[in-house]
Amino acid sequence: MHHDSADTDTDKRLAAEAAAGEVVDGMLVGLGTGSTAAHAIRAIGRLKLHIDAVATSNASADLARSLGIRVRDFADVATVDLTIDGADEIDAQFRAIKGAGGAMLREKVVACASRRMIVIADGSKRVEAIGAAKLPVEVLPFAAGFVASRIAGLVRSATWRGDYRTDNGHRVLDCDVGAYRDWECLSDAIGRIPGVVGHGLFLTQVDAAYIAEGGVVTRTERAGLARPSSSR
Ligand code: A5P
Repeated sequence: MHHDSADTDTDKRLAAEAAAGEVVDGMLVGLGTGSTAAHAIRAIGRLKLHIDAVATSNASADLARSLGIRVRDFADVATVDLTIDGADEIDAQFRAIKGAGGAMLREKVVACASRRMIVIADGSKRVEAIGAAKLPVEVLPFAAGFVASRIAGLVRSATWRGDYRTDNGHRVLDCDVGAYRDWECLSDAIGRIPGVVGHGLFLTQVDAAYIAEGGVVTRTERAGLARPSSSR
C-alpha cells in the first residue's frame, strides 16, 4: 500500500472537495476509484444531497454506501450527469492515463456515459507529456498469451500485474509505452486486439481538471475543444 505525504493527501482532498462542489440535488453522479476519488466520495457524503450515484469499482460502491449515498447498478443507467475521478497522469490537452487502481474499464465506460467528467488530482499527476506512468491494459484471461504477444509489438515492455484480477475478473498488463507520441493510434491499436477489454488511455473523455498543489486548487476546462460526440 502506497502512503502519501500529508501534503499530497491534503492536496488530493482539496481538489476533491472543490470538485464535489459541482454536485447538486437530483444529479446522477459517477464515483471514481482510488485515494483521490475516495476523498471526493467522502466530501459528497458530507454534503447530504439528494443524489443517486454509480460507482466505477466495488470498493467505491462500498465506501459510498457506507456513507449513506444511494448507489445504483450501472447496468440500468445510460447517462450520468457528472463523474469525478482521479488519474495517474494528465497533460495540458486533458489526455490522461488511468488504471493504477485497476478500475480503468469501468471508469472509461462511466466517463463516456457522463455529460461532464472531472479529473481531480494533486500536482504530481500533472505532466508535460503522458507516458511515464504505466499504461494498464485489461485482458480477458482466456486471451492472455495472445494479447501479450500482440502488445509486445506496440509498446516497449509489458508486465502482468501478478495474479491481480479486476472487478470484472480480468487480468492487467502494465505497459511501458516509452516516449510515444501518436496516442490516438496507440489507443486504437491496443483496443482492436481481440481479448483486450479496455485500457487506461483517456484521450477525449476528460472535460475539466481540479488540480491542487501546495494547498491551492486550480480548475481548468477543456478549452474550446468540443469533444467529438461519436466517441462518447
Ligand atoms: C483507478 O483505476 C485509477 O484510474 C485511479 O483513478 C488512479 O489510479 C488514481 O488513483 P489515486 O487517486 O489513488 O492516485
